[in-house]
Amino acid sequence: MTAGIQSVGAYIPVRRVSNEELSKTVETSDEWIRSHTGIGNRHIASDEETCSYMATEAAKEALSKADMDKDEIDHIIVATITPDFKDFPATANLVQNNLGIGNIGSFDVKAACTGFAYGLELGRGLILGGTAKNVIVIGAEKLSAITNWKDRSTAVLFGDGAGAVVMTPRVDGEGLIDSILRTDGSGSDALYMPSGGTATPYIPGVTPEEDLYLNMDGRRVYNFAVKVNVDIVMELMERNGLTPDDVDYIVPHQANYRIILAASKRSGIPLDKYYLNMEEFANTSSASIPLALAEMDRKGLLKRGMKILTVGFGGGLTYGGNYIVW
Ligand code: ACO
Repeated sequence: MTAGIQSVGAYIPVRRVSNEELSKTVETSDEWIRSHTGIGNRHIASDEETCSYMATEAAKEALSKADMDKDEIDHIIVATITPDFKDFPATANLVQNNLGIGNIGSFDVKAACTGFAYGLELGRGLILGGTAKNVIVIGAEKLSAITNWKDRSTAVLFGDGAGAVVMTPRVDGEGLIDSILRTDGSGSDALYMPSGGTATPYIPGVTPEEDLYLNMDGRRVYNFAVKVNVDIVMELMERNGLTPDDVDYIVPHQANYRIILAASKRSGIPLDKYYLNMEEFANTSSASIPLALAEMDRKGLLKRGMKILTVGFGGGLTYGGNYIVW
């Protein structure tokens, strides 16, 4: 038995903010953002569009596409670095309540932009281990809440949204075949939230305002991202006896067009194998891979038997990916 993705759903916040609109409040331009990142727009959640709300809506769409009753779900996993509550309860618990499912397990995964790749593998583990039959795995982020809107080097990069999949057992040997999940903790200060944890609690009047938001050393993250993008894709192909011709799509974390372009050049894998949608949604961290899968599904691009690689990289520094036979 294997475990596979039965269906995909998404939730996109209503408010769409273009580069032009952003450049009215941040010192930047459409030309700079597009040429340095490939981003044209982002969707920004309202107060009512909390992380758990977006996650729940994405899960509802995935459930309806799976033609499955909510009570057939045994477990919920939410990958997020922007949970409704900082430490607990987990956002997955809120989604469980919102969906009205009783007596099941739920937990959050905190692996930044690699969170969804981790979540899928954990979902597979629950199914193969016999703990669960059907699992909802969600990537959901409200990054606008931890973005420093006064810092143009990060304010232009991020967006909000959620994507969800229903994972079910597969008896045909297809589905999620392999995952690589890695961390380089020595880079934990390259992209992080300096304040608010137990090591450096927020102290009113003492903690610098910028420490309350996401901090990033862009160049360091860029160099790391290009390298691990290539490493993960190559290792997944090698471990599974695949050549680039065998792979139908690579679905990368949608951080920056230039990262993907550099990875494509370095690996020799044609750019048109990579599915890209950062132009519309910007970087939505854990949500970006399931959002891309949901868009591909809506466009009818995903067919049973297709060979798909995901690759995630981000804060932590985390990196990893999945090999899926759709
Ligand atoms: N608009 C206009 N100018 C800007 C902006 C902006 N939004 N941001 C920076 N600049 C300026 C800088 O001030 C600098 O000006 P200077 O030369 O006068 O000092 C110049 O542009 C170049 O700045 P760099 O930071 O060197 O620009 P770079 O080419 O490295 O691009 C970027 C920056 C896009 C952030 C790049 O480093 C990158 O993509 N890094 C990876 C980021 C990433 O993907 N992070 C997410 C990981 S996902 C997660 O875990 C959440």
